[in-house]
Amino acid sequence: MDNTWGDLTNPTVDELERLSGVHPGSRRVHAKGICCRAAFKPSGLAAGLTTAVHLREQGGEVEAIVRFSGSSSDPSLADLMSPGKGMAVRFQPAGGDVSVLTAVNVPVFFAKTPSSFIDLIKEANRLKGGGFEAIAAAAELAAHFPEARHAMAHIGKLRPPASYGACRYYAIHAFMLVDAAGKRRPAKFEWLPELEVETLSLGALKSLPEDYLERDAAERLKHAPLRFHLNIVLGQDGDPTDDPTVPWPDGRERIEGGILEVTDVIPEPDGLTMDPTVTGAGIEPSDDPILRFRSPVYRESARRRGRGE
Ligand code: HEM
Repeated sequence: MDNTWGDLTNPTVDELERLSGVHPGSRRVHAKGICCRAAFKPSGLAAGLTTAVHLREQGGEVEAIVRFSGSSSDPSLADLMSPGKGMAVRFQPAGGDVSVLTAVNVPVFFAKTPSSFIDLIKEANRLKGGGFEAIAAAAELAAHFPEARHAMAHIGKLRPPASYGACRYYAIHAFMLVDAAGKRRPAKFEWLPELEVETLSLGALKSLPEDYLERDAAERLKHAPLRFHLNIVLGQDGDPTDDPTVPWPDGRERIEGGILEVTDVIPEPDGLTMDPTVTGAGIEPSDDPILRFRSPVYRESARRRGRGE
């Protein structure tokens, strides 16, 4: 897959850099964020479906690093201005494989292939004014790119969340769960917050500090962890695994994989990269070309920021 899309890796990162310029040392998107320590408590209910260590052991506890972020490429953009939010989790089971799960607060993506992704970002750069999150541009982009229409409808409705802990996050892509006999089954992942999903009223917006989400998380974590339930949505025959722009039909079976407890804000660990194809044994990336393309792009973004570019 890298061979097919590999030549688009650098042009894609270059195009992302045009969204708001280069901000040395920052991620090329999802630039502003905070890292937290967390513990994941697997329910054991997925043990028959996957050998993934972090999902199997009922009663166990798996260390995790979580990074909450705003989707903008500009690390100085106020939290309020970037209603698209990310939650990236790196499960680090003792004696097991690291597994990364990245998720955002919309259920579908706006591009089906790496080449349409880059075309769309070029178009966003052409329409600029507000950049990546310009809600006004969403309708126009959807008109140019029919595959983006589901995602743009969701993005257009986004409002600033009350808290990173009050968003529902979707990992969007299909992954393959692999059981002990080697049987593979498609699944998607979602994080459901224990707090009620809440966005802010217009009145509240005026008085908000630029980093209100970071302050909110730090304040809440002084009193109690932020909890999220991991929903594993099981695909059925015919559900597309290679197209992140369309949702699976409603009513698919869901398993509660466990509960994540986010406990403390921590400094970002050196070299932290949330490559979504790092899944560990028991979970495999699906045939989704966007999912596979993300790996070399994240590597290139990390390489540039790691050199202070
Ligand atoms: C072709 C499609 C995509 C491209 C080119 C892309 C590009 C990027 C890049 C360059 C970064 C910064 C990486 C780093 O420096 O470590 C990033 C971060 C991120 N992306 Fe994507 N992305 C894509 C699709 C997605 C999708 C579908 C999701 C949601 C499931 C997503 C969620 C995130 C999140 C949450 C982060 C922040 C990760 C962190 O906190 O380290 N991205 N993306």
